[in-house]
Amino acid sequence: MTNLNQMPVVQTSQMSKFYRTGFWLNQKIESLKNCSLKVFKGETFGLLGPNGAGKTTLLKLLLGIVRPTSGSGLLLGKPLGERSVKERIGYLPENAYFYDYLSGWEFLQLTAGLFQIPAKVQRQRLPQLLELVGLSKSTAQKKQLRKYSKGMLQRIGMAQALINDPEVVFLDEPMSGLDPIGRYQIREIILSLKAQGKTIFFNSHVLSDVEKICDRIAILAEGELIFIGSLDELLGNSVTYHVKGKGGDLNILKRWVKELVFEDDFWFGQLQGEPQDFLASLRLMEAQLISMNLASSSLEEFFIEQLQKR
Ligand SMILES: Nc1ncnc2c1ncn2[C@@H]1O[C@H](COP(=O)(O)OP(=O)(O)O)[C@@H](O)[C@H]1O
Ligand SMILES: [Mg+2]
Repeated sequence: MTNLNQMPVVQTSQMSKFYRTGFWLNQKIESLKNCSLKVFKGETFGLLGPNGAGKTTLLKLLLGIVRPTSGSGLLLGKPLGERSVKERIGYLPENAYFYDYLSGWEFLQLTAGLFQIPAKVQRQRLPQLLELVGLSKSTAQKKQLRKYSKGMLQRIGMAQALINDPEVVFLDEPMSGLDPIGRYQIREIILSLKAQGKTIFFNSHVLSDVEKICDRIAILAEGELIFIGSLDELLGNSVTYHVKGKGGDLNILKRWVKELVFEDDFWFGQLQGEPQDFLASLRLMEAQLISMNLASSSLEEFFIEQLQKR
């Protein structure tokens, strides 16, 4: 999907954001340090990192809500914060605050009004959006937002972020605080946006959410990007297999199986080398393979590994 000749949808170059806090503004918090990244059209890009890593700060910088201390960025080819870009993007903030006493429908009408979407278009788009996010029209019209569950709020928030049919959607922790079904539903919505060709940039500290839907990910820790790449690249580097078998030539086996152990009639250990070549070699020496299991280090493990290296 990544096409290097294509103009990136999001591009940052050595972007940093420092906050000054304390009574004398004498304390400096380095929320983001020299962040350079590119996101291309149609990509689902996941920004991962523990709480306080700087994910929301990066999103706010991209949206032009805060200004970088140094460095710069482009969104849809325009400098960050440019007004003309606003109508081409959607944003679901973290812990979004919604107007309690409006119904979902009224809330969407209000948002549509902010984008000056004509009433005729609204009449078409609102039901479409509700269908996409899985809320019934009658619930949206009758129920006030204060009576919505967390999952319903998150879904109406998604609809709000999509009201202007944006090319790029920014989602800050869209699955946080949801139960497994809620997470699944949001994931499905993101996948359907992806199928529509939208570019999605989302923050999460929940690795399994990202693992299932992102083309590429970045890992942020203490304001620094410590990894950026595809999931395949990330997980491919650290895939290992546990193998178990019977028979064969001990000397050859030793070359293929790390920490080779014998027990009863069986041998087992960790495969080193390409699985195909190993299987071929087993055939040659007439050894029998009983099992081969992917001891895939999950994104979770990778994440912890990366953080511990620091
Ligand atoms: N407006 C602000 N003023 C001062 N410090 C801030 C502000 N916003 C964020 N920070 C600090 O910047 C760091 C990164 O925060 P944030 O971007 O919210 O992280 P994340 O979204 O990854 O949890 C934190 O240490 C946070 O306290
Ligand atoms: Mg955040």
